[in-house]
Amino acid sequence: MYKIYKSLITVGSVFIGLYALSVYAFLELGIAVHPMMKANFKAHSAAIYFHIFPSLIALIFGPFQFNEKFRMTKSHLHRLIGKFYLLCILIGGISGLYMAQFSFGGTISHLGFALLAVLWIFTGYKAYSSIIRKMIVAHYHWMIINFALTFAAVTLRIGLGIGFGSGIPFEVFYPYLAWICWVPNLLVALMIIRKDATSLTH
Ligand code: HEM
Repeated sequence: MYKIYKSLITVGSVFIGLYALSVYAFLELGIAVHPMMKANFKAHSAAIYFHIFPSLIALIFGPFQFNEKFRMTKSHLHRLIGKFYLLCILIGGISGLYMAQFSFGGTISHLGFALLAVLWIFTGYKAYSSIIRKMIVAHYHWMIINFALTFAAVTLRIGLGIGFGSGIPFEVFYPYLAWICWVPNLLVALMIIRKDATSLTH
């Protein structure tokens, strides 16, 4: 069962990452978003590109870092990709934090995206600092939390589908989505860590 969830997370991450890559690398900026978001993107095009490209790289590569066989047999590659992943989060997080003030939906959206960005950078830092001190379990746990936040890019798009399908106007549901896209992910990550920590102590 656990393997099925892992596969679904990998497929969802790679799919959304490649979707964002094809839309933002080859099409006009903002073609796939609300006209007001498009205007914001055009006014801050450098920041949005600095956000989208590093973030999608982290999203695509992140799930493979959790593969135990890969970690064991190719630990040098795990370390290299890990450093690259964290660099992407630093750049994607800082630019995401900057873009939060222009996000669609007012203060609720601004705060939701801003807190997500701060937690994204903070948990990435904790994952890095713990592995530097050879604290492997702590590193693994911080990375679970960090990737749960990266995965907000996928849950946001699932939420968009549900929002549009429900008939609720975009401007009504989007501000809440800026929170719903990551708070449940964080709670699930905390539950996984708790279960893992309990199994380690028994
Ligand atoms: C986890 C931390 C993240 C934060 C804080 C964040 C923040 C933001 C913000 C503020 C916007 C502008 C939204 C608006 O104008 O209303 C945005 C848009 C966007 N972000 Fe992120 N983001 C994060 C992760 C990611 C990841 C991992 C991806 C990978 C695909 C990504 C891809 C995008 C894309 C493609 C857009 C443009 C909107 C769209 O096409 O739906 N973001 N993000």
